[in-house]
Amino acid sequence: MRFSFFVFASLGLILPSVAGAESFGSLSKPKFPPGKPPKISCILTASGADDAPNFLKAVEVCPTVTIPKSTTLNIETRLNMTGLRDKHINLEGTIKFSPDIPYWSGNGFFIPFQTQITFWLLGGENILFDGGGTLDGSGQKPSNSAKNSSLLRPITLTVFQAKDVLIENIHMINSPEWHNLVNEGQNVVYNNININAISNSTHGAANTDGWNVYRSDSVSILNSVIVNGDDCVAFKPNATNVLVENLDCTGSQLKSLKRSLGQFPGVFDIVENVLAKNVKMTKAQNGARIKAWAGPNVGSGIVKNITFENFFETAVDNPIVIDQCYMTNTTACAQFPSNTFIQDIWFTNITGTGTKSNVASLACSPDGRCSDINVNDISLSFPSGTTTFSCQNLNITGDAAGLFPICKTT
Ligand SMILES: *[C@@H]1O[C@H](CO)[C@@H](O)[C@H](O)[C@H]1NC(C)=O
Ligand SMILES: *[C@@H]1O[C@H](CO)[C@@H](O)[C@H](O)[C@H]1NC(C)=O
Ligand SMILES: *[C@@H]1O[C@H](CO)[C@@H](O)[C@H](O)[C@H]1NC(C)=O
Ligand SMILES: *[C@@H]1O[C@H](CO)[C@@H](O)[C@H](O)[C@H]1NC(C)=O
Ligand SMILES: *[C@@H]1O[C@H](CO)[C@@H](O)[C@H](O)[C@H]1NC(C)=O
Ligand SMILES: *[C@@H]1O[C@H](CO)[C@@H](O)[C@H](O)[C@H]1NC(C)=O
Ligand SMILES: *[C@@H]1O[C@H](CO)[C@@H](O)[C@H](O)[C@H]1NC(C)=O
Ligand SMILES: *[C@@H]1O[C@H](CO)[C@@H](O)[C@H](O)[C@H]1NC(C)=O
Repeated sequence: MRFSFFVFASLGLILPSVAGAESFGSLSKPKFPPGKPPKISCILTASGADDAPNFLKAVEVCPTVTIPKSTTLNIETRLNMTGLRDKHINLEGTIKFSPDIPYWSGNGFFIPFQTQITFWLLGGENILFDGGGTLDGSGQKPSNSAKNSSLLRPITLTVFQAKDVLIENIHMINSPEWHNLVNEGQNVVYNNININAISNSTHGAANTDGWNVYRSDSVSILNSVIVNGDDCVAFKPNATNVLVENLDCTGSQLKSLKRSLGQFPGVFDIVENVLAKNVKMTKAQNGARIKAWAGPNVGSGIVKNITFENFFETAVDNPIVIDQCYMTNTTACAQFPSNTFIQDIWFTNITGTGTKSNVASLACSPDGRCSDINVNDISLSFPSGTTTFSCQNLNITGDAAGLFPICKTT
């Protein structure tokens, strides 16, 4: 056989942790495998050359593919793993993408939304990706200079057109760009993912978001630690029913839970039913944040039923933010208020410290485009001076509304 992996009977021992439809946050884990455990497991080891063809072949022919602890797969060409059914990728070792960003820039999979590319499309139905191993995006090499804007840097892992996916117990390091994108996914769960993208080279990391969720429904991101230089979790257009729970996000210059919506003309964006709970943010630029574009020639949409609950923030530049005039000055925002409406928003039990006097800024477009904004149990301070809370163009309710006197609903 031409491939450097072996086939053996796994005795079904590999999957005890996902038997049945265990309750998992508000969602259920994918039932893997449906009915019976897989009989065949393949072990994939490194070939000394580009391991992408072997990896693709192994996943195509085997229900379970194990990459052992001692193995580092070297991936030099893109991985199209779409349309899978009932697959288990058990990564105990490492998958390392080659650092040749100029190559990837022309040869990754193109993601039209916000002009991105990716190394790896993982899609289909009933997929388990776990094993305690590492995805290494090789994002700190000189050729990957984030300063060279003519290069597209790849997203490490894109879950694409996928249903019932569980990704757990995986480390992700050195992504050249966003670590994860969920693009047209349904019932996708991430659990216990450990992300580290701190660059210790002179070639700084950039735009290394933990997750972006786009055109996807029922996504959970749970029990994970993120140390990066950008957003922890970002909700892009048409992210619905998203649960974010027990995250620990640290980054020296990061933005964080945010939504950049209504960017593109003619496109209607929906972000609805999001619960972000038990989130610890440290040294971040933004904590609990919603942003939407205003001005001429932008899109429209709705951000509805979003809850930020139990946030503990330390040294965060902007702990609480609504910015409905994103990338727009006051004059232009008054002339062209945002067409992305924001409603039913809850900031509940947000505590900690900011790095500036103003610890909360709730700023809507003129003309009543924010409604039902609630603040409860807010305890934020600026340790080295006066603490202030600012607001404009909205009515605020809740037991902490008094912090925003001019917007308090009487
Ligand atoms: C990936 O492979 C599938 C199935 O072979 C194919 O239909 C699809 O066009 C490929 N996707 C890309 C982006 O190349
Ligand atoms: C940016 O990348 C392009 C494409 O690989 C390359 O031709 C160019 O020399 C790079 N520029 C710098 C300043 O490194
Ligand atoms: C970063 O520095 C640590 C400690 O010096 C080292 O172990 C690690 O390999 C470095 N990472 C990269 C990608 O160079
Ligand atoms: C979002 O969903 C709405 C309603 O289904 C649709 O009209 C719109 O085109 C979608 N937007 C994007 C960016 O997919
Ligand atoms: C609001 O979103 C939460 C999930 O965060 C969901 O449980 C709840 O049913 C939603 N409420 C409405 C009225 O849709
Ligand atoms: C408020 O959030 C903190 C975590 O930031 C948590 O420890 C505490 O139990 C929460 N309080 C309530 C009343 O839920
Ligand atoms: C505000 O933005 C508009 C449109 O971009 C620009 O024409 C105008 O000069 C800006 N005004 C100020 C005060 O910056
Ligand atoms: C606030 O509520 C008052 C009374 O209902 C209403 O007249 C006003 O338009 C509201 N303001 C905004 C900015 O929504």
